[in-house]
Amino acid sequence: MSRIHLVERRPSLTTAQMLKHLVPPRQFTSASFESFEPDANFPSQTAARDTARAFVAGGGGGLFRKSTQRPGLYLDGGFGVGKTHLLAATWHRASGRKYFGTFIEYTALVGALGYAEAATALAGASFIAIDEFELDDPGDTMMMTRLLGDLMEKGTKVMATSNTPPNALGEGRFAAADFLREIHALSDRFVTLRIDGVDYRHRENEGRADVATDVELVALPTTEAVSDDLFRDVIGHLATLHPSKYVPLLAGISLAIWRDVVAFTDQNDALRFVALVDRLYDADIPIRASGVAVDEVFPDDMLSGGFRKKYLRAQSRLVALTHREISL
Ligand SMILES: Nc1ncnc2c1ncn2[C@@H]1O[C@H](COP(=O)(O)OP(=O)(O)OP(=O)(O)O)[C@@H](O)[C@H]1O
Ligand SMILES: [Mg+2]
Repeated sequence: MSRIHLVERRPSLTTAQMLKHLVPPRQFTSASFESFEPDANFPSQTAARDTARAFVAGGGGGLFRKSTQRPGLYLDGGFGVGKTHLLAATWHRASGRKYFGTFIEYTALVGALGYAEAATALAGASFIAIDEFELDDPGDTMMMTRLLGDLMEKGTKVMATSNTPPNALGEGRFAAADFLREIHALSDRFVTLRIDGVDYRHRENEGRADVATDVELVALPTTEAVSDDLFRDVIGHLATLHPSKYVPLLAGISLAIWRDVVAFTDQNDALRFVALVDRLYDADIPIRASGVAVDEVFPDDMLSGGFRKKYLRAQSRLVALTHREISL
């Protein structure tokens, strides 16, 4: 057996496969309300957990009345505070036909099927989870608002989390107000909740990304569950794929090896890499890499620009993945 090369993969998905992929990614297959440990310093974490739990429990009343009456729940917050964890926990708890995907996956579904067919495929679901709701593209936002409106009309509950907003220079900037404004017609169907906190990943992984030597990379397992590529080839390949394909690009991979990592000079390359890191992180795929440390690939001018938060989050995820144990 040999290692595979990501650059040789050009995934395409059928409708049925796209729908089958709409479940929580590997890292969150066992996320639950019980495994969520609220940080006592941030009471909004306990509040978010309880509201999310009440949201799918049905009935309700009392404290959570407001959230259970509305069919939509939107979680806003900084990175690593447990938004996706709570979204997955809620999905696991929901009964009936349910879907879980990133905003990009839903827009890709509509792109592939057309609006009417995508809406029909999702219609009648009891619960739809949308991770990282994007507000960058007005067309996509409008399409998704329409889709959610049609679904909620027929009784579907929708829960979404915020994506790191573009041009969010201030660390303290939150997206809930933008979200409500952009989905205007639907805004009174959503309760928004803000989770404060510190990046949970830092609680377990202090420090920087590990850098491997070429000798160490050679010694790693050689199976088809391991991808082995030159970093710059991967970056070039990403430019030729729609970001919704990054999920199937990584199918079956349990370890990603990148050789000769270099820092970015092009912002588009860097943003596509961020999207890949998100999918690696969701799928819980450890990274081993040589060259420049993977958390140092974003140059200062990018780190101080409009996408600062995206890069900081990618750094946090990259550090976690280079520390992750390999299990094949
Ligand atoms: N309070 C918590 N208790 C237990 N695990 C947590 C908690 N908060 C976060 N985690 C874990 O930390 C990791 C990061 O959390 P998660 O991905 O849910 O954060 P997020 O808010 O979605 O961040 P991002 O901005 O990166 O999407 C996950 O593995 C998650 O299970
Ligand atoms: Mg998340």
